Amino acid sequence: MAEETTTPQLDPTRLASLVEPAGTDDGRGREAVFEIEDLTVRYGQSAALVGVSMDVRKNFVTAFIGPSGCGKSTFIRCLNRMNDLIPSAVVEGHVLYHGTDLYGDGVDAVEVRRRIGMVFQKPNPFPKSIYDNVAFGPRVLGLKQDLSGRVERALHQAALWDEVKDRLKENALGLSGGQQQRLCIARALAVEPDVLLMDEPASALDPISTSRIEDLIHELKRDYTIAIVTHNMQQAARVADMTAFFSVDVREDGSGRHGVLVEYDRTSRIFTNPADRRTEDYVTGRFG
Ligand SMILES: Nc1ncnc2c1ncn2[C@@H]1O[C@H](COP(=O)(O)OP(=O)(O)O)[C@@H](O)[C@H]1O
Ligand SMILES: [Mg+2]
Repeated sequence: MAEETTTPQLDPTRLASLVEPAGTDDGRGREAVFEIEDLTVRYGQSAALVGVSMDVRKNFVTAFIGPSGCGKSTFIRCLNRMNDLIPSAVVEGHVLYHGTDLYGDGVDAVEVRRRIGMVFQKPNPFPKSIYDNVAFGPRVLGLKQDLSGRVERALHQAALWDEVKDRLKENALGLSGGQQQRLCIARALAVEPDVLLMDEPASALDPISTSRIEDLIHELKRDYTIAIVTHNMQQAARVADMTAFFSVDVREDGSGRHGVLVEYDRTSRIFTNPADRRTEDYVTGRFG
């Protein structure tokens, strides 16, 4: 039985789509947490992202980079159905999560967001106590048993416990920006998700807080699968196993522009020996 659950179910044709990587662990032996197939997202009439196909692998940190407006946030929001909350957004294609289509009939978006937590660019703690912020999700889900133990564990995991253990009843808005962001991470972890999505989680933080978040990401990937959008290429290089480079395709006839996935590979390869000229231009700063 144990053997069965640890043996990944891998589809050889899917794996062939991954370019030969430079690093030691290329993710081929890992289970795909997400299999994204021909994903297109429109806002009203205009396409923001077109034809994205890729896999996200278990206990890897996968980074999404690319110029502003190329659809990174749009993409990552598809992974836990956050785009449902944008009335004009239309999602086409498939996002399989452990083999189940997140956009299939009968899938409960609230349950999806419990398993796939999200942290945003700007820390957004509730105007409540530190404790109540972390206890929020468990309370909504009726997870009453050992609530304080659960809160403490989440704060430990988010590397915040030592700083707040004596002030759990204080308002979360009194914390520094970096602490607030770690609190938001703790809040996401308190419901024991499987995946953590982060959309530029450190871009509003100072360098020391940023480095703490990066250290934390390293710690968390033992237990979680992490997808992170970052505009900071050094950050992607430091934290990510795999990196996906998105760009904006401008139609020659001037009829529009939309985001596309240009290249997806081991981070080391994306930064040192990319296959696509557009990736090379971007990572070497030649992007105009
Ligand atoms: N809520 C929205 N309504 C309409 N258009 C949007 C919305 N969010 C993003 N867009 C558009 O979709 C495109 C991709 O945006 P976004 O996903 O935010 O890119 P990135 O995160 O890479 O900067 C942009 O053209 C942007 O203007
Ligand atoms: Mg964005």
